[in-house]
Amino acid sequence: MKKLDMLYEGKAKKVYKTDDSNAYIIEYKDDATAFNGEKKGTILQKGVINNKMSALLFKVLEERDIPTHFIELLNDREMIVKDVDILPLEVIVRNVAAGSLAKRLGLEEGTKMKNTVLEFCYKDDDLGDPMINEYHIEAIDLATPNQVEKIKNYAFKINEILTKYFGEKNIDLIDFKLEFGIHKGEVILADEISPDTCRLWDKNSKEKLDKDRFRRDLGNVEDAYKEVLGRLNN
Ligand code: C5P
Repeated sequence: MKKLDMLYEGKAKKVYKTDDSNAYIIEYKDDATAFNGEKKGTILQKGVINNKMSALLFKVLEERDIPTHFIELLNDREMIVKDVDILPLEVIVRNVAAGSLAKRLGLEEGTKMKNTVLEFCYKDDDLGDPMINEYHIEAIDLATPNQVEKIKNYAFKINEILTKYFGEKNIDLIDFKLEFGIHKGEVILADEISPDTCRLWDKNSKEKLDKDRFRRDLGNVEDAYKEVLGRLNN
């Protein structure tokens, strides 16, 4: 497969066209941003880790009947993915209060939720990705009610699969963000699943093994990312 022109450059990834009109190449960068781009930095080898970790987790999900955009790993920093029209939604799943939820509801970080909490945000940097509900999604045509229903079902199922999977590696899946797209008329999982998009805490020590180490200047950012991939590969 031939890598052609760059189609899009985001904060953490680049997307390239290929000579196969149904396949694209995603390149994972070491660039890190937080707080809607206000904080910028580099996490060495993050691109390699996020590429490998996303590939591994997409495979785990595919084996459990979740359709994803993943086709195959190309090299350390690149994967081949299916063509998708990304829905402008961030789908956030929460098992334990942390981050913006803890702040918004005045909860102590680490408070277990009695049920899984699902949130939608409108993916729009200029607006700061505001939280929206299903009525907003329908009202401004971000997705159809049928697509939203599928997204919700997939998100809960993905949470079950990943909570168990990370749990076996002695990691608590606190919360995470998903993005979905439309491929051949069907909703499929896209984007990435990595310590950039998940909160992952060591089960025993509750040490943060994710991007909060960068957001909050906690140090040992690279080590935390490496630690997670190392555990998943064991
Ligand atoms: O910041 P907040 O607490 O709302 O984040 C919830 C989860 O979604 C976290 O795991 C965070 O890493 C992820 N997230 C993301 N990209 C965003 C916003 C949140 O990956 N733009």
